[in-house]
Amino acid sequence: MTAQRLDGKACAKEVELQLGHRIAALNEKGVRPHLAVIIVGNDPASHVYVKSKVKTCERLGIKSTHIELDASTDEATLREHILSMNQQEDLHGILVQSPLPNHMDEEALTDLIHPSKDVDGFHPENLGRLVQGRLDGMLPCTPSGVMRMLNWANIPLRGKRALVLGRSRIVGMPAALLLAARGADATVTVAHSKTEATRELCREADIIVAAVGRADMVRTDWVKPGAVVIDVGINRVDDDSRERGWRLAGDVHPDVEEVASWLSPVPGGVGPMTIAMLMENTVRAAELTIQA
Ligand code: GUN
Repeated sequence: MTAQRLDGKACAKEVELQLGHRIAALNEKGVRPHLAVIIVGNDPASHVYVKSKVKTCERLGIKSTHIELDASTDEATLREHILSMNQQEDLHGILVQSPLPNHMDEEALTDLIHPSKDVDGFHPENLGRLVQGRLDGMLPCTPSGVMRMLNWANIPLRGKRALVLGRSRIVGMPAALLLAARGADATVTVAHSKTEATRELCREADIIVAAVGRADMVRTDWVKPGAVVIDVGINRVDDDSRERGWRLAGDVHPDVEEVASWLSPVPGGVGPMTIAMLMENTVRAAELTIQA
């Protein structure tokens, strides 16, 4: 079997097309969606992601404010930025790129973002709504991108066994909630670093969402023939044969395409969907300001 490619880039393009109409409608009412992205420090991968977010804003006609702060910035300064952005009426979304330097309390800072501007969906109010099964709020971008992509490819989830590898706040836990939510109706297992017999659990799954950040961890013998495999990992692996000295690898070994029915590529799978969902959350936040 050769897996079908779960093409996040193509799916994201369709999402962007629909957003274009919504943005035009907002513009007619004198509103331009506006996203602020704050990055602290010099993690190279985070800078690449943030640039990609800003570039997508430009392409769609979403205004963006890009704030880069030095790694030594104190938490109070970042707090002030967030509090002032909460007050700014023409700004609809605030994103603080994770990870933050160790001296900052990431959760406490996330709590400060007004829930209506929390386009990452990480605020306790938005995550709480997700736990309650209210899916009409701001949903975390990567997990909602995964769900959108599965839906787009007409992959059935109801009653299926889904295995989420990883229990992070950003991906694993919200992905598990979305897969188990009414309407998706999968039966979900969350595996993590302390899980025993992870490979055997994976082998029982109809759907695997790999979000652990370990290159090539999921091998062909971890996957049931015909399973759907979503690779959320983006890992930099040393590679002297490349001019830049590294290559990108997912959490799933590329050979898994020999056993899976669907596999999302890295890059070009979940990554573009995460950004598309961020744009959608920003447009939604802007729409809600005129409906309020
Ligand atoms: N770092 C990796 N993924 C994300 C994300 O979705 N949002 C934020 N804010 N930081 C991230």
